[in-house]
Amino acid sequence: MSNQTTALVTGANKGIGYEIAAGLGALGWRVGVGARDDARRETAVEKLRAAGADAFGVPLDVTDDASVAAAAGLFDRLDVLVNNAGITGGMPQEPTLVSPGMIRTVVETNVIGVVRVTNAMLPLLRRSASPRIVNMSSTVGSLTLQAADNGQTGPISGAYAPSKSYLNAMTIQYAKELKDTNILINMGCPGFVATDLNGFRGHRTPAQGAQIAIHLATLPDDGPTGGYFDDNGPIAW
Ligand SMILES: NC(=O)c1ccc[n+]([C@@H]2O[C@H](COP(=O)([O-])OP(=O)(O)OC[C@H]3O[C@@H](n4cnc5c(N)ncnc54)[C@H](OP(=O)(O)O)[C@@H]3O)[C@@H](O)[C@H]2O)c1
Repeated sequence: MSNQTTALVTGANKGIGYEIAAGLGALGWRVGVGARDDARRETAVEKLRAAGADAFGVPLDVTDDASVAAAAGLFDRLDVLVNNAGITGGMPQEPTLVSPGMIRTVVETNVIGVVRVTNAMLPLLRRSASPRIVNMSSTVGSLTLQAADNGQTGPISGAYAPSKSYLNAMTIQYAKELKDTNILINMGCPGFVATDLNGFRGHRTPAQGAQIAIHLATLPDDGPTGGYFDDNGPIAW
């Protein structure tokens, strides 16, 4: 078994996930580039390798049991899992207009996808001396900020924002179940980042958005677990 720290980033072919992979690669880690599309994955791997990263492609659709099981089969140990893949689901998102199908699709990717990947990777993470799991959440999932109605949580949303609240709650439950292990599991918000997800309207770069995930991926053994952070520290639930 290799001594090199090994990470898997889901949705790593573009946006924040790509920059998380680049940042972890720059630490000298071996980085699995999880992506569902062969061409997009290979292009990202080539670019990361050209920049000096020890990157390799991991075919991975987080909504597909067989794909996730096959991805787990590519590792003999995993030190860090970054659950970054996510979708907004499109429009309309108002609770009175959103379609049940859209809610189902968003939850399938943003919540169940995270559970599916995490549970498939846990046996590999348990082989690590310092396993870390980072779930990419968002301040839009904060019930405190949603209820404050102060414009911090974006447009009214009946699918995307609640999916991140659900992900936050699920991550707390994982932290409680895993509290007597060496696994640290936390949520990170990248801020409002210019990516495909929001039509490139964000004011931060993907590299800036990746910083919180890189921080949570490299926590010391006495670091927090079950926390919800952005670059400024803890986020209100
Ligand atoms: N951008 C922001 O301002 C912002 C703010 C807060 C939180 N976030 C969160 O940050 C994470 C990354 O978002 P981003 O802004 O970088 O978005 P993005 O540029 O749209 O990238 C999303 C990534 O997820 C992948 N993905 C989607 N569904 C997938 C599936 N079923 N299986 C595997 N991969 C899948 C996409 O792959 P394809 O290329 O194949 O579609 C893509 O690689 C998301 O969880 C998002 O909710 C973003």
